[in-house]
Amino acid sequence: MDDGSVGQLVARGYANGDNIPLEQVLGRVRDGEVIVLPRAMQSLGLFQRLYDLTLDAVRAASSDSHAKRVEDQGIEHIHRILSPRQIVETNVGLSSLPNMEFFGVARRCIEDGLGYRDGYYICSKPIVRTMVPFDLSDTEDVLSTLHTGRIRALSPHRDSWYPHPEHGINIWSAMGRVSRGNGMIIYPDMWRLRIPFAGIHMAKDQPVGRVMNFSLEPGDILLFNGEHLHSTELNVTDETRYVIGTRVTLDQPKYHAEPPWVPYYQAASLEGPVAPLYRLRPYLRPPYLTKRYVRFRIGRVLRKLNLMPKRKNAPVRTAPKSSSGSENVIRSDLGNGEIRAIDDARIAVRIGEEVSVLSRYCVHQGADLAQGYVSEGRLYCPWHNLCFDPKTGRQPCKSLGHLRRFAE
Ligand code: FES
Ligand SMILES: [Fe+2]
Repeated sequence: MDDGSVGQLVARGYANGDNIPLEQVLGRVRDGEVIVLPRAMQSLGLFQRLYDLTLDAVRAASSDSHAKRVEDQGIEHIHRILSPRQIVETNVGLSSLPNMEFFGVARRCIEDGLGYRDGYYICSKPIVRTMVPFDLSDTEDVLSTLHTGRIRALSPHRDSWYPHPEHGINIWSAMGRVSRGNGMIIYPDMWRLRIPFAGIHMAKDQPVGRVMNFSLEPGDILLFNGEHLHSTELNVTDETRYVIGTRVTLDQPKYHAEPPWVPYYQAASLEGPVAPLYRLRPYLRPPYLTKRYVRFRIGRVLRKLNLMPKRKNAPVRTAPKSSSGSENVIRSDLGNGEIRAIDDARIAVRIGEEVSVLSRYCVHQGADLAQGYVSEGRLYCPWHNLCFDPKTGRQPCKSLGHLRRFAE
């Protein structure tokens, strides 16, 4: 589609596969639906351009021959060709491309693809996520602190816990295969529920409800509202997951986090020769700043007086009680696939006839496995989907320990 035309675009609800009229897509995503546009990057004529830019960034971070090998073997195998540090450098190189490249992705998708031309705002920071297999991501400490060019998993969050506005619509574009085991997670039951959090972290034992994870083909675009609680799967596959994206808001951005915020630019002000100046306009004009400042001060006072309007509370776990004899009761009434906390150190999980008693907190970042789930005979951590064999407590990553299995 080098001529600027848009190929056939379809939209489907991710959960049920229903076709969705294109003009309804953005409104439904704003209302919490998760929608996929299969092969949309190709239909919008964006895929090859971004792939070429990626190879340029690989070249700059390593060499021509490395870039050629990535091209030949596929981006899913980039971790076999580049070191983790070179992959981070590739991501950083891409993230610092002139904004117009990523604005172009948003505009092509929103305006040409979905036909939406009302006022909307585009995030000034692109999403570039190259999630290498977990055992590689853990090899260099310096990588763990980077946000731009990130190659490690994010914990459950809403985007507005970071300095992003509420209800940003994520345009999450798969540039390689995304599979269960290296993708991301959305927790649909937490939509619109209030979740206590501090900074960007919620409590390790916060219930999260059902888990939705994703398989995507190269070029698929996933659209979801950043107010969904969501996180990254810890990559237990032998493929790298590579996603590029951006965010938009359909209304004027409203921030919750303390400033400085990530700026969002009015799409309409990004055209013409004076575009660079216009991009800053909404953030610099005095009434805007004054309004923001006044809102910020009022919000602060209301928060102090505990008068901020409250959203519905997420279910908050009651502290587990440890009492002798409870283990047998739990064992006897535990349903198939159920997990129950026995005390602060142990959980019981039933798979068929067998009940296993395992250590309670995840070996990765300590999430509470009592809030996890069972699928296909495996116990899954609710935070980054690490899977455990309930019979042995073992998990697939070499750089992590295993759960302790307690005697019957
Ligand atoms: S997989 Fe990350 S805390 Fe369990
Ligand atoms: Fe996010």
